[in-house]
Amino acid sequence: MEKIVALCKRRGFIFQSSEIYGGLNGAWDYGPLGVELKRNLKDYWWKSMTQLRDDIVGFDGSILMNAAVWKASGHVDTFSDPLVECMLTKKRYRADQIEPQSGTVYYFSGISVPASVSDPSTTNMPPLGGADIFKFSAEPKKIEIPFAVLVPKGKPDASAHKIARQFYVSRGYVESQMSLDLEKSEPVENSTAFNPENGAQLSEPRVFNLMLKTYIGPVQDESAVTYLRPETAQAMFVQFKNVLDVSQKKLPFGIAQIGKAFRNEINPRNFTFRSREFEQMELEFFVKPGTGPEWLNTWLEERLAWYEAIGIPRAKIHVLTVPDKDRAFYSQGTYDLEYEFPFGIQELEGIAHRGNYDLKQHQEASGKPLEYFDEESKTKYLAEVVEPSAGVDRTVLALLCEGYAEETVKDEESGKEETRVVLRFSPRMAPIKASVFPLLKNKPELVAIAKDIYKTLQPLLKVTYADTAAIGRRYRRADEIGTPFGITVDFETLEGAKEASTSATGTPIAVGQKDTVTLRHRDSMKQERIAIADIPAYLLSKIS
Ligand code: GAP
Repeated sequence: MEKIVALCKRRGFIFQSSEIYGGLNGAWDYGPLGVELKRNLKDYWWKSMTQLRDDIVGFDGSILMNAAVWKASGHVDTFSDPLVECMLTKKRYRADQIEPQSGTVYYFSGISVPASVSDPSTTNMPPLGGADIFKFSAEPKKIEIPFAVLVPKGKPDASAHKIARQFYVSRGYVESQMSLDLEKSEPVENSTAFNPENGAQLSEPRVFNLMLKTYIGPVQDESAVTYLRPETAQAMFVQFKNVLDVSQKKLPFGIAQIGKAFRNEINPRNFTFRSREFEQMELEFFVKPGTGPEWLNTWLEERLAWYEAIGIPRAKIHVLTVPDKDRAFYSQGTYDLEYEFPFGIQELEGIAHRGNYDLKQHQEASGKPLEYFDEESKTKYLAEVVEPSAGVDRTVLALLCEGYAEETVKDEESGKEETRVVLRFSPRMAPIKASVFPLLKNKPELVAIAKDIYKTLQPLLKVTYADTAAIGRRYRRADEIGTPFGITVDFETLEGAKEASTSATGTPIAVGQKDTVTLRHRDSMKQERIAIADIPAYLLSKIS
């Protein structure tokens, strides 16, 4: 993962947001190559949903919505995670993400301090220290602040005392004046009540709403509160009637949207995987009552095939049937598609059967009918919804992880062994589709033809031109950013092919045939010839 993060920065895929100010946790910026990769991904999702199907229409809702939407949707009351706080460091964690630990727990009832020491929480006076303590002869005073520390198996017991001392110091007591009051110690198995980083006791979980609050207009009172949307979905439910009327679709039909969503995640982590600002690609697929479960399975298959088409093999995706207790509050059944990230098998996309939960909630709260009139049965009903909801940033990360490879190869010119870093993106996803190179920079005939090819390709797809450094180095740089094709204008372009061959397009190339170039393939590093005139059609066929 570290290598991928480093490559992302070095070659301009992803930067930390606000980097020069120390960054902002949970926010990321996409650089010149990252934005191309992300755009290719979104474009392909958009095309798959809205262009290649007749039953889905596109939509682009606002990020800010009337706060009543979030009340009715259930997000104000229920969109939360359990939060715990380390009693020593005050760092916050999601309670359900604490790794269970086994070991010995040391329970301290508090500390004993000289009678003269006042409670630091009730006085502004600094605690007494140094020689002052000898001025008073009264019995030591017991300060009852219970605290516990878990020492994992195999670690020295003394660490419990060290952590406990740090805890009481953090509460304002002077270390040299205190003695710990150990109450008892006992073994525990699989406890999630202690911080895995230091063993300190965690607070009781409390409910933490994940929505990012904001104010609309100049007066910052409760009536001005709304939220940055935590999912793009709600605007599609709220506008269901309008979209249905204008598109004149019949059930089953879907509304697709790509857009930003915001969640005040307790612990953003694993690079872009869990961010506070991220993008979703969401489809709300409205179906007849009772047909939700069937459509849930249909969409599972559709989505698995889609990931395959962007270069994430079926074998790397795990389908999790989310257990009842873990499902979102709106769901009657959910599949999570999980990818084998280097940091573990984690969710890429959730496919949920939301029933008629959302339409019903909004119909009731707004008082506006959101029912569908079925021409065939002449009845009105609320549609059910199946929702495949994918994360753009997580899929970009999966593409980077899936594509990243290091290989020992022979340098194509010197024959020396070296390490090649390559991003094996599918041509469809690759930020740059091809790089055009003149073999030598100082040969005007080669440069002129290469520039000509580059200019011809530029309006059709994302290509680059490079003439500095040896050709081997230029190939390596292109490999590292995942460019699938190299097009090199060389002396055979001018003088004619040295030997007969079959071009990349399958047509024969005769000895002496001019106007051909070297086509180099990123993954196999194989080189073949192709006629200049055939390049545009060849490349387009690889990315459509
Ligand atoms: N409308 C349904 C919904 O929002 P979700 O499972 O909470 O469902 C859908 O989110 C997808 O959005 C996830 O599978 C994930 O890819 C992406 N996502 C959710 N939270 C994210 C976060 N904090 N950072 C990055 N992506 C996130």
